[in-house]
Amino acid sequence: MSDKTIVTLEKIVALCKRRGFVFPSAEIYSGLNGVYDFGPMGTLLKQNIKKLWLKNVKSFDEEVVLLDGSILGAPQVWTASGHVENFSDPMVDCLNCKKRFRADEFDLTKGCPFCSKKELTDVRQFKLMFETQVGAMADQTSIAYLRPETAQSIFINFKNVYSTTRVKFPFGIAQIGKAFRNEITPKQFLFRMREFEQMELEFFCKPEQTDKYFDIWVQRRKDFYISLGLTPEKIRLRPHEKDELSHYSKGCKDVEYNFPFGWKELEGIANRVDFDLSQHTKHSGKDLSVFDQETQQSFMPNVVECSVGVERLFLTLLFDAYHEDVVENETRISLKLNPKVAPITCAVLPLTKKVAESAENVYLDLKKAGYNVQYDLSGSIGKRYRRQDEVGTPVCFTFDFDSIEDQKVTARNRDTLQQERIPVDQLKNYLDNLLKE
Ligand code: GAP
Repeated sequence: MSDKTIVTLEKIVALCKRRGFVFPSAEIYSGLNGVYDFGPMGTLLKQNIKKLWLKNVKSFDEEVVLLDGSILGAPQVWTASGHVENFSDPMVDCLNCKKRFRADEFDLTKGCPFCSKKELTDVRQFKLMFETQVGAMADQTSIAYLRPETAQSIFINFKNVYSTTRVKFPFGIAQIGKAFRNEITPKQFLFRMREFEQMELEFFCKPEQTDKYFDIWVQRRKDFYISLGLTPEKIRLRPHEKDELSHYSKGCKDVEYNFPFGWKELEGIANRVDFDLSQHTKHSGKDLSVFDQETQQSFMPNVVECSVGVERLFLTLLFDAYHEDVVENETRISLKLNPKVAPITCAVLPLTKKVAESAENVYLDLKKAGYNVQYDLSGSIGKRYRRQDEVGTPVCFTFDFDSIEDQKVTARNRDTLQQERIPVDQLKNYLDNLLKE
């Protein structure tokens, strides 16, 4: 088995389509740019990502509670947050080739990056929020926005959560949910989409604790990615320069991954200080400060934010796991995903149709116990192994003629290709060990 991996975006896109991870949205109508649907494998992978993220952010000493805010947002929220005024990208059009692109991604002095003609429009600010109308009246008073980040619903509900849960500082409010951005140029598949999901943790602390917790969360987030199995050498932390900080943040560090298209942001960790709660206090007229019993004084909580896109992590995991090697003179593609992340934990494969009934009972037993398990009877055993390798299934249990006699199956390891006989009544233990942290 010799490794000959060269991973490209094209290979990942093709694998995602071929194996039911990701489909272009509305594909039968030629699709909608920057929007994707997730197939059976992709849905399971997303579920695992979200489950592991949540388990991780809740695993520390400090309390973390959950929120599920609305997607439609009142315009006042997005005015107060600064998004109505600031959330835009510089856009330019080429009058010759009619291409539209982000002005900050190219050197405009060299002309159009696509046709080289120097027939560019002035740079205009393009608003990234999707605007819609709520109710029957279509006028200024009926405007609502699809949220471009989940964070704001946490801030506007801060007092509701604080007073109903009696959490003690410091504590976090975590949310996983859809966000929408009218990106000028959605690109690199799931890297920059127009509809995506965010996993955000807003961690509230006393002002004097903010710097300490910023450093703590940066380290925790980096450790999380290593615990998922991402290659440590492909992860780095990059502090933002002063001129790239968002309007709300005092300091920011990105967890970056070395993608085939370069080092790019996977997650942003921001010190938002008291920007959001102060802004919402000012715009709503509702005081969001908190009374500290110890000091007998009010303070405006500060916020450390950890924010990552589900699909961006999905793409990162696929790039990192993708492998090509040569097995028996054939190129084999496999996803070396951590078993906790893999959409399917095991497959049960009857060697022939003659043992199918007994094999199916093993499969049903594992399925009813709650494991993500697949049963596959079609094609040669080699082809069936390849299909499982391509979706990252860490182990296949093959049921053969001996299995009926000795009640054992052959466990075949995705990465080492080693095989061992396991008693059927030990399979759940075997899988539990595989899924253990
Ligand atoms: N609340 C802070 C915030 O939204 P951001 O840097 O704009 O900050 C946070 O986004 C994370 O959301 C990014 O690090 C990325 O993982 C993900 N993300 C942002 N825009 C995205 C897009 N258009 N498509 C996919 N993921 C995106």
